[in-house]
This record gives sequence, C-alpha cells and structure tokens, in this order.
Amino acid sequence: MSTIDYSSKIPNNVNLGEDRTLQRALEQWLPNYLDWWQDMGPSGSQNFDVYLRTATSTTPDGWAHFGHVKMPDYRWGIFLAAPDADRKINFGEHKGEAAWQDVPGEHRANLRRIIVTQGDTEPASVEQQRHLGNTAPSQYDLRNLFQVNVEEGRHLWAMVYLLHKHFGRDGREEAEALLERRSGDADNPRILGAFNEETPDWLAFFMFTYFTDRDGKFQLNALAESGFDPLARTTKFMLTEEAHHMFVGESGVSRVIQRTCDVMKATGIEDPAELRKQGVIDLPTLQRYLNFHYSVTIDLFGADQSSNAAIFYSSGLKGRYEETKRDDDHVLKGGAYKILDVKDGALVEKEVPLLNALNEVLRDDFIKDSAGGIGRWNKVIEKAGLAFRLTLPHKAFNRHIGTFAGLRVSPDGRVMSEAEWAAKVDQWLATEADRAYVAALMGRVVDTGKYANWIAPPMIGINKQPVDFEYVRFN
Ligand SMILES: [Fe+2]
Ligand SMILES: [Fe+2]
Repeated sequence: MSTIDYSSKIPNNVNLGEDRTLQRALEQWLPNYLDWWQDMGPSGSQNFDVYLRTATSTTPDGWAHFGHVKMPDYRWGIFLAAPDADRKINFGEHKGEAAWQDVPGEHRANLRRIIVTQGDTEPASVEQQRHLGNTAPSQYDLRNLFQVNVEEGRHLWAMVYLLHKHFGRDGREEAEALLERRSGDADNPRILGAFNEETPDWLAFFMFTYFTDRDGKFQLNALAESGFDPLARTTKFMLTEEAHHMFVGESGVSRVIQRTCDVMKATGIEDPAELRKQGVIDLPTLQRYLNFHYSVTIDLFGADQSSNAAIFYSSGLKGRYEETKRDDDHVLKGGAYKILDVKDGALVEKEVPLLNALNEVLRDDFIKDSAGGIGRWNKVIEKAGLAFRLTLPHKAFNRHIGTFAGLRVSPDGRVMSEAEWAAKVDQWLATEADRAYVAALMGRVVDTGKYANWIAPPMIGINKQPVDFEYVRFN
C-alpha cells in the first residue's frame, strides 16, 4: 500500500487501474493541469533540469529518491498514507463510530467546501511565486523554490483526486474550476485573501513559506483528524511535504539575518539607511515584512467566532490540531474559550462557547508554533552580539477578518485612532520604499556555488550534497 506505482500514467498508491472510470476522468484532467502548469507555473524554467525529490513510498523514509528532472516531467500523482482498518471517528457527534470511507450524504456540501478551499490554496501559491525564479539568489534556493512549487502542484492533485472519486459531477466541475481561478485576478480570484497577495521578492517568499505554509500545516493537521478517512489519509502524506516548505522559509530568513549581522559586525554599522548601502536587508525592514506576512496569515484561520467551525467539528469533518493527543471529551459541548473583544476602545478577554471558537483555537496553536522560529532567528542576532530582537506582533494587529477587522491596533496591542495609525504604519508594515529596496537587491545568481550578497549560504546542502552542488542545470 505504501509503495507507489510509477508505471501508470498517473503515479498512485490507490490502485487507480482498478477504477477505469475514475482513471479516465483523471487522465482527462491531466492535460488541463499541464496546460495550467505551462501558463502559471514557474516562468521561463520549464526546460531546466532541477534536482528534485520524488516520493517512492508514503512511509517516513519515502523521500529517498533525488535526481535531476524537468519540472513538466515531474511525476505528480495520488499518494495516500496507509489505511488503518480499525480507524474510528475520534471527535464530534459521531465519536466512536467507524471512520467513513465514503462521503456521508448529509455532510457532502460541507466536505466539498473544505476540500475545495484547501485545494484552491495549492495552485494559488504556485501562481504567486511564478516569477521568483528570475531573481533567485543561488541555484540552491532556486531548487528549493521549484521543489515547493511541484509539491504544491501535487497537493492540488491530492484534493482533485478526492473531488473526482467522491463527489461525482460536482467534484469534476470543482476540479476544473481549481485550474481556472487565478491568484490576484479581479474577476476570478483565489478563494482566500492571503493567496491573492503578491509574493514579489525572495524575502516575501521566505516569510510566506515560514508563515503561510505553516497555516497549511495546521489546516492539514486538523483535516488529518477527519472522520472522512480518505481526506485524513491524503492530508497525512501532504504534511510530510509541508515540513520542507517551512524549512525553506525558516532557514531562508535565518540566512538573511546571518548575512545582515555579519555585515553589521564587520562594519560596525547599525543605521538601516547606511546598512542598505552595504547591500543587505536591515533588521527593521525584516520586522516589517514579518508583521505583514504574520497578520495576513492569521486571518486565514477565519472569524474568531464561527458557527461553521462548530458544525465542521461536531459533524466529524475537521478536528483540532493533535485532536487525539488532547484529554477532554472530544465533543466539547458546554466548554468555553477565551477570545479577545473590543470594549470602550480597549482589548478585553471574553468567554465564548468553545465549539464556536475552534478557528481561534487553531489560530492560537499556530501562534505558539510560529514563535519557535522567531526565537531561533533571535539567537542568530544574539550570537552576533547585537541588541535588536524580532517579535511577533499582537494578534489584533493589521487584521481584516473577525472581531478586529477595521480596528487599528499597534503591534504591541494598543487600540488607536485612524490618525495615529496613519502616522505610524510605515514603521510597522513594509512600505513601498522597503519593497523597492528589497526588489533592487534581487539579481539573478546562477553560477554553481555562488550566493547573492544579501543572503548567507546554507550550512549544508539538499540531500547531503555540498552547497556548491549543481542543483539546477539551465540547458
Ligand atoms: Fe500545499
Ligand atoms: Fe506548502
């Protein structure tokens, strides 16, 4: 079951060949997917040989295979984690019943919505990142970008498989629509806000993979608890791919910090304007990028009080992060959760029914997880003997969804007037000038083993290769 069949047109470990109708439907979707990849995938890079990993099985050691591949020839396919014959629904009103192998009729619309919303983020991020290959700081980074891109493409396959297999004609139509929406398009945008933002430069890319791919981690973990077993199994395997994406983000930002700190130490310069003359990204600019990506990403968890979240949980469709590791009744009726509210111009805690607060629960888990990397980035600065520290802004800062939408709140959590916000926002969110400066640094570095001036080389390469390995052959 864990071994993947690469001999068929669509690699899979779900015995696709035994379901000819499904196989044919997916084989019809395949050329449309490849057209989308040609149009919206990494620009000008389709002929490169890229050192990519391909899954050989869905066990933890299943990433054994690395080799140079042209991206359009990447073996996208359908890989589900091994089934557990005794698996139960572990939460909600169906708790204790056998996990569903087919979509229960009464939950069909909600499940479809969950799968489509998740599926939509996958091609969206490829679209957001499609021009970054033109300004890669090294072959190593270019390879990482492409690895992330092909795997987001595979995540789309994962959701499309579920739609085709379990949702009939509606599912096939949704699968087509996933190839038709476009990130940032005025008429037919992607579903979620953060996936319509631009990812214009590599600092934005690293912040995106640190924060927004981490949103993916939490959403996928919640879906890996689902009572709908095929969804649980497919998201479980997607999580093994997601881990690398977050590594690209965390190590990318860390290397930017390392390079900046090295230059600060060598020159004794601390003033951001003077540092920019050295061609590195000053730490306050890094903080402003961080503030933007963090606040946009935590909006993705949805409204802090949500009856949909309660329904998704109670009907066994979407659990909490690490649901089965928690020791409560996993039904949550009568439970309470503290969320923030605004009262007389200040933020105050208030208790609400836990079931309605499950978006906030997942957001808070995400926030805790995000803090880890900030600590490790600060260690790099501390080691350099510098006083600057990066921080996560307050969760009410720059929010556009839920209670805080439309409210002006400083990064340290103070509610303020529109006038004060306008006077200070340039200190808190990346400005046009910041973005123009970072954009100006982005030159393409293609020579094997060379790295752009604004980023330190990694400590070790991919798959234990040296950092000056030929990760991309440009042909
Ligand atoms: Fe993904
Ligand atoms: Fe990802």
